[in-house]
Amino acid sequence: MTLTEQQGPTAGGTRTFVVGAYQTRRGKPAAGVPLTEDPAAVRDPQARIDEAVGLARAIDLEVVRPILIGLDAVRPSTYLGKGRVEEIAEAVKDDDVGLVVMDCALSPVQQRNLERAWGVKVIDRTGLILEIFGSRAHTREGTLQVELAHLAYQKSRLVRSWTHLERQRGGFGFLGGPGETQIEADRRVIQERMTRIEHDLETVKRTRSLHRASRKRVPYPVVALVGYTNAGKSSLFNRLSAAEVMAEDMLFATLDPTARAVKLPHGGKAILSDTVGFISDLPTMLVAAFRATLEDVIEADVLLHVRDVSHADTSSQAADVHAILQELGIDADGGARIVEVWNKADLLDEAERGRLLNVAAGRPADQRPALISALTGEGVDRLLATIEERIARGRKVYLVTLDPADGGLASWLHEETEVLERRADENGRLSIVVRVAPEKEPRLLNRFPGCRQIR
Ligand code: GTP
Repeated sequence: MTLTEQQGPTAGGTRTFVVGAYQTRRGKPAAGVPLTEDPAAVRDPQARIDEAVGLARAIDLEVVRPILIGLDAVRPSTYLGKGRVEEIAEAVKDDDVGLVVMDCALSPVQQRNLERAWGVKVIDRTGLILEIFGSRAHTREGTLQVELAHLAYQKSRLVRSWTHLERQRGGFGFLGGPGETQIEADRRVIQERMTRIEHDLETVKRTRSLHRASRKRVPYPVVALVGYTNAGKSSLFNRLSAAEVMAEDMLFATLDPTARAVKLPHGGKAILSDTVGFISDLPTMLVAAFRATLEDVIEADVLLHVRDVSHADTSSQAADVHAILQELGIDADGGARIVEVWNKADLLDEAERGRLLNVAAGRPADQRPALISALTGEGVDRLLATIEERIARGRKVYLVTLDPADGGLASWLHEETEVLERRADENGRLSIVVRVAPEKEPRLLNRFPGCRQIR
């Protein structure tokens, strides 16, 4: 059991208030650390609280209602003004609420004072996101990264909130040296745990590069989904991937649960890989944990950047995603690997749809976004064709002809390349059409000097 699990304050079904108290004065952005310094990333309060509600629902909290508050100034003791604190205290009782999520960064003192005033557990945005990462992390590395972030969070809280409560540990001193205070002991325990996790992470990272190397041996191209939380990645993932392929092809059973096979229009296959969604105002201490989840996509052949184009903040969300992809070096080739997917087309009115189609048509053909609806399936066939076309751009197709005696060589082709077609004539001569990754091309040409490039 991880610390996150032990100490998670949230349980599915808990009746919850989500409070968005955002500073309004002179358009100043509210507390929180934006992913980018881009001023366009300043978000509309309604969209912000909607996102916070979505995040709370993502871990099955029952959101009784969101409470949107315009804040003139942050109070050091309770974040909110006295009147607001009292109002919410009443509502917590009336609505039988068990948890309040404050969509901001609370100091430990503020958190404790609010918990006292309301008589229920209070978590802030970092706490909420930690819960989500904890519930989503399914790889060993992900779990460790989340636990590390959780410990860092706890450690920072210890320092600031407990200082004035410091108790002298009396007597035996099993854990610490003489005179060690409780807070020092707690910090030391946390630090030791963090050091151990950092060590484990190193080991996991080493084995992961081995895994990656073995995944690279898989002859299929990898298509990774990235995008904001709630953009519709999982919906698209499910729509594009065919479960039957999974069952019939053991190769895919060895991949992690977030990867599935997808059939391309001309018979080829690709591996589709899902990722954790981006979250606006990602707390600084979680950035490393989040990026670790994205490292796999660096090597993908194609990236689908899924956007909810019906969302009020769709542009600043896209700017955030681009900024991170750029930092990961994915944008370095001018975005040649990225396909923008404009999702939730079914929610657009005619005027907005027309406007977006115009914008899309104005872009060069090789950067044109795909307008789709993962819900209705609109545009998905065209998207598949686009994916295939992008893959083909980076991979050549060869025709290999084999004599019956060379049958054994065919198995090399099946292991190392993507076999698109295979035909035998009446004399037993095999014609095999294969698509090959650039790094495998020299070996193909070496083994089959007579092969011919056809696409
Ligand atoms: P995270 O897992 O949080 O990163 O979210 P996600 O990007 O995987 O989004 P998900 O597929 O879970 O979809 C979020 C919500 O949007 C769900 O309620 C979906 O039903 C809805 N949704 C997804 N695609 C569409 C679409 O094309 N149209 C409409 N109307 N709703 C959609």
